[in-house]
Amino acid sequence: GEKIAPEDMLFSYRDILFPASVSSPETLEALKSFEARSDDVILVGYPKSGTNWLEQMVQELADAKYTEEERKERINAEKKVETFQRLEFGDPGIYERMKKLPSRRIIVTHLTPQLLPPSIFQSKILVLVRNPKDTAVSYYHFYNNLTLLPSFASWDEYFPDFMNGKLAWGSYFDHLVEWNKYIDNERIMTISYEELKEDQVQGMKKIAAFFGFSLCEEDFLRIAKKTSFKAMKEKSSETHGKFGDVLFRKGVVGSWKDLFSEAQNEEMYRKFEDTLGGTKMAAKIKYDVYC
Ligand code: A3P
Repeated sequence: GEKIAPEDMLFSYRDILFPASVSSPETLEALKSFEARSDDVILVGYPKSGTNWLEQMVQELADAKYTEEERKERINAEKKVETFQRLEFGDPGIYERMKKLPSRRIIVTHLTPQLLPPSIFQSKILVLVRNPKDTAVSYYHFYNNLTLLPSFASWDEYFPDFMNGKLAWGSYFDHLVEWNKYIDNERIMTISYEELKEDQVQGMKKIAAFFGFSLCEEDFLRIAKKTSFKAMKEKSSETHGKFGDVLFRKGVVGSWKDLFSEAQNEEMYRKFEDTLGGTKMAAKIKYDVYC
């Protein structure tokens, strides 16, 4: 497509950067009028924490009770409304159109509570977290492989921007600090990328219990297989079009080791301790920064 100048790729809204290709200040302003429902399924995660994986998983968990016919009806309803992959994407009219979607709606966002309408807390919210180092590495490759985002000449040039929140959706640390304020809310649950990697079936059982989906053992095993990294990567061009290649990169824990220097490792450790040390959120993140 058309080449966009790097300075036009992002815009700033309330001091946070957003990709101009998918959102606008008007849409973020209109988001205030979004009305969450008590039975909405809200999925939250900082970019690159595995949100596409979680979304697919939750979709499958929620769909298990529907017949093929009912699933098609739901997909058609979404097509009519022209929904987008993320709550903050699209034109400002999207929130009005979303009122026409049947329950239960599955809604994904990378935002923090300050940019969401207060009604969001009527829904159950699942917050996905991933260790900061792998998130940083994943986001680096994403930036450099996506023509819709500016690119960095090197990892060393990128690293300070991650640390200072000069990337789309702002700071990783702020994101977790903000969600940590609500961590004791009983309508909020957190789950980590690492625990899902370690035992996906166990993780999905927790998710299903939280949202009240009832499934049998067989369903969980079938869904785990269908949403494995390999399976999702193979289907990526079908499910995510040209973004498929960029989205399903490695899908492992620990790929930070390829890029972090000793000094960057130390800096990450200090920043994490300064912003999140001692919080319940920090305890959720299996975070091998200590090695
Ligand atoms: P890597 O770049 O480390 O491979 P998001 O969906 O929030 O953009 O996150 C993308 C990250 O999730 C990428 O991490 C991607 O590979 C990983 N991912 C996507 N699908 C996955 C799956 N089925 N299993 C494990 N990781 C997955």
